Amino acid sequence: MDLWEAIITRRSIRKFTSQSVSDDLIQKLLRAGMQAPSARNKQPWHFIIITERILLDKISDIHPYAYMLKEAPLGIVICGNIYIEETIDYIVQDCSAATQNMLLTAHNFGLGAVWLGIYPREQRINALREILKIPQNVYPISMIAVGYPAENKQPEDRFRNDRIHYNNW
Ligand SMILES: Cc1cc2nc3c(=O)[nH]c(=O)nc-3n(C[C@H](O)[C@H](O)[C@H](O)COP(=O)(O)O)c2cc1C
Repeated sequence: MDLWEAIITRRSIRKFTSQSVSDDLIQKLLRAGMQAPSARNKQPWHFIIITERILLDKISDIHPYAYMLKEAPLGIVICGNIYIEETIDYIVQDCSAATQNMLLTAHNFGLGAVWLGIYPREQRINALREILKIPQNVYPISMIAVGYPAENKQPEDRFRNDRIHYNNW
């Protein structure tokens, strides 16, 4: 699959088979995340790989829109370190760029994935800090649930001419 096809056909996948994701593919997802652009090239990210069923279930219980973690074989939490990049707004943008790279890479390799919002929801941040023992200087920004798709989602055309402004608003 080329990049264009990946961008145009990627959809959120929330149903997964029980097949686990290989270490090789996990490495590719991590490499894709770390290739993302970041403000001043600070690369403030950390990634928490979660394959333990008990942890995936716990996170599903504290997140109102993460029911799919109950069957996903893999979750990855994308975090930003405020000691590396002191501006939280840049951390959010850097980690979001990493997250999207990982979603597209998952799709490219035949995996399905969905973005789960964490930051700026205090309750989710605090609960994840507790469950995963994340230090206070590290902010969990987003999470992805990953696995082999057990649903088939068609691409959606979202192109809108009314959102485009040439030279002036
Ligand atoms: C910042 C952000 C937070 C999101 N949080 C959740 C979430 O908590 N649970 C979920 O199922 N999907 C979540 N999504 C996925 C969106 O619902 C999804 O991307 C959107 O409906 C468009 O569908 P698509 O990904 O299939 O193109 C999130 C997406 C973004 C960008």
